[in-house]
Amino acid sequence: MSADSNTPSTEHSNPTVDGSELIRFDGVTKRFGSNVVLDNLDFTVSSGKHVTLIGPSGSGKTTILRLLMTLLKPDEGTIRVDGQYLTHEEKGGKLSPAGERHTREVRKKIGMVFQQFNLFPNMNVLRNITEAPVHVLGLSKDEAEERARELLELVDLGDRCDAYPTQLSGGQQQRVAIARALAMRPQVLLLDEVTSALDPELVAGVLDVLRDIAHTTDITMLCVTHEMNFARDISDDVLMFDAGRVIESGPPEKIFTDPEHQRTREFLSAVL
Ligand SMILES: Nc1ncnc2c1ncn2[C@@H]1O[C@H](COP(=O)(O)OP(=O)(O)OP(=O)(O)O)[C@@H](O)[C@H]1O
Ligand SMILES: [Mg+2]
Repeated sequence: MSADSNTPSTEHSNPTVDGSELIRFDGVTKRFGSNVVLDNLDFTVSSGKHVTLIGPSGSGKTTILRLLMTLLKPDEGTIRVDGQYLTHEEKGGKLSPAGERHTREVRKKIGMVFQQFNLFPNMNVLRNITEAPVHVLGLSKDEAEERARELLELVDLGDRCDAYPTQLSGGQQQRVAIARALAMRPQVLLLDEVTSALDPELVAGVLDVLRDIAHTTDITMLCVTHEMNFARDISDDVLMFDAGRVIESGPPEKIFTDPEHQRTREFLSAVL
């Protein structure tokens, strides 16, 4: 943990930044009808790392995040989060489909920020952030509010606790959504093109906040972005997807400057 004393700690939720596997996909296949979107996919994300998924539209990046959020279920294969199966349970050495309760417990380790903020429109900023910690984690209102205020400082909105979402810019709403996700003390934060719905002049503020979180907390990040400079700044590893498979992976300086794969070169020349 490299946070200074003003940075909200994630240490309760993420006690070990030791490179152990936090996310593991083994042989995950996802189909929609005859469309094989993820094809026998294996990959891992180590605890505390920041991993970025890049690749062409339709290559399956969002599908990976939706599987982790259990908004979708894999057709084949298994997903583990912090060593626990997400949609399976192990009984007597055998795997069977998990019950809702098991899945809900494992999913608590994961927070997600969506492209379209998805704030509760009828609640002010503070309540948007405290609602789930109070009702899902069982925090007292005071504890949840104290934590929410710290997080609002982190996303540079300490003075907007009482505002309603419609009174905020898109960039501000997205920063509230980031604070709301962190309030659940997830071990891993999933970010799906979180700046792509924003006006261009609001993008930098959101990326700055995410850079700050990446550099000052120990949270693991799995990020889909078309912001290649941002990806270069925060990523430990970049995974290049094509047609539901990882075709190349490595540190950003390698992938962005000296990719092995022709498909990666084509993709980067189109987006850079
Ligand atoms: N609910 C769904 N029903 C049917 N097909 C779907 C569904 N969700 C995704 N797909 C298909 O799965 C494929 C992968 O979609 P996904 O959203 O994961 O791509 P992506 O890599 O995130 O693309 P983009 O960069 O455009 O966001 C696409 O062909 C898409 O049409
Ligand atoms: Mg997508």
